[in-house]
Amino acid sequence: MHLQLLPVFACLAAAAAAPTSTTPSSVASAGLSDALIAKVRANALNISTHSWEIGTLAEALTELEWPALSVFGADAIPPPRRLPARENARDVLQIAEQPQADLKPFVQYRVVANKAPGSLPLIDGDGAVGDPASIGSAVLLRNWTRPDLKNTSFSDAAAGQLQYLLQDAPRTPEGAISHRESQVQLWADFVYMAPPFIAYYGALQGGKAGQALLQEAYDQCRLYRDVLRDPQTGLWHHILLGDGTDDSLWGTGNGWAAAGMLRVLETIRGSASAKVMKEQQKNLTSWVDEILTGAWQYQHPNGTLFNYLNDATSFADTSSTALLATSSFRLATLTGSPRHIPAAVRALRLIRASVDADGWLQGTVDPLSFSTPSAPGVHSPEGQSFVLLLHSAWRDFLA
Ligand SMILES: *[C@@H]1O[C@H](CO)[C@@H](O)[C@H](O)[C@H]1NC(C)=O
Ligand SMILES: *[C@@H]1O[C@H](CO)[C@@H](O)[C@H](O)[C@H]1NC(C)=O
Ligand SMILES: *[C@@H]1O[C@H](CO)[C@@H](O)[C@H](O)[C@H]1NC(C)=O
Ligand SMILES: *[C@@H]1O[C@H](CO)[C@@H](O)[C@H](O)[C@H]1NC(C)=O
Ligand SMILES: *[C@@H]1O[C@H](CO)[C@@H](O)[C@H](O)[C@H]1NC(C)=O
Repeated sequence: MHLQLLPVFACLAAAAAAPTSTTPSSVASAGLSDALIAKVRANALNISTHSWEIGTLAEALTELEWPALSVFGADAIPPPRRLPARENARDVLQIAEQPQADLKPFVQYRVVANKAPGSLPLIDGDGAVGDPASIGSAVLLRNWTRPDLKNTSFSDAAAGQLQYLLQDAPRTPEGAISHRESQVQLWADFVYMAPPFIAYYGALQGGKAGQALLQEAYDQCRLYRDVLRDPQTGLWHHILLGDGTDDSLWGTGNGWAAAGMLRVLETIRGSASAKVMKEQQKNLTSWVDEILTGAWQYQHPNGTLFNYLNDATSFADTSSTALLATSSFRLATLTGSPRHIPAAVRALRLIRASVDADGWLQGTVDPLSFSTPSAPGVHSPEGQSFVLLLHSAWRDFLA
């Protein structure tokens, strides 16, 4: 493993110049140790099984261990054609391909090799349109950096996933791609699952076709916000349209939306179309800020958010607290505005206090029910990845 964390501490002098109302040393001292993060990572690898959990973990591993290849890296698009030995992204690429001994839990998820013949989605999505696409960025990276140039299996798999999203999946009359296969329904979760893949695909393609995909990724964020945004708070409802809606202002749903829009924004910013898509970047920036502003007004004194952000009768949830803090550090790194940093640092301290000595995040919402805390002794796969995302975002903010 190549945890690249030490340079952070060499960069504190630079952070001292940053205009934050929270002192740099208080930001730096709020973080988790490398040793604990290594345990969080091992646990995340061991328990992530659903499509969206695997896709989120692939992104978390990229940001944590191979930051030069993540869209938050300064020069990540396109990645090198051949990855240097020191920056080989092996755990990320093996999610797309064949895991090695230390990644045993993924034996059943050689995603491309195990793809059902004739299926367009990368993996079974339990009825979700968006979730399988969350693994798409890892597949694109695998294709782009593959040593065997004749092998088109990764490219074909990514193209199939894109075709499914753009041509086969149901849509609203306005053009928002449904998050469900069986009915037209929008979930805030979708914004982390599909638009970042569509954007990364477009950024790697380049040219007019690539720009159209970047625009599509942006439009999906815009169309989702048009439907899901609550005008009173600026926060997003969880699930609207169709049968079985959840109109709550779900913490994790808002985290998915903010973190997904940030990835689309950074992908546009790193692409050849950055100059002609300025207004899209400006809008995405303000839409992320809108969610963070809405969420942190409900932060409790110990740093936590509640599962339903605006409902003090729900319960404290570390998962959404971690993901919204992640987005706060990322947005501040991008814009230079320290507005959400005090809230993010309070949240980071709460998360540090909530990761036990074995590397498990305690106090999560059950990610399958959305509405109840995780049962005692049961852990949240996405929550584990959110801790890794938070750690990476904090580290990059300090640097
Ligand atoms: C993964 O989880 C299983 C139990 O489900 C456990 O036996 C094993 O030790 C865990 N592996 C690691 C590397 O934590
Ligand atoms: C391409 O590479 C994948 C992963 O290594 C492998 O499973 C597949 O058989 C290869 N396809 C061809 C045509 O060589
Ligand atoms: C896969 O990589 C090749 C370059 O090796 C590139 O031409 C192709 O567009 C890539 N496929 C996708 C879907 O990005
Ligand atoms: C950006 O947002 C504004 C305000 O909602 C909207 O009028 C404008 O059309 C958006 N720009 C783009 C490129 O979508
Ligand atoms: C934080 O405070 C809330 C009440 O606002 C409480 O329910 C929760 O358990 C506290 N979290 C921790 C980790 O102490």
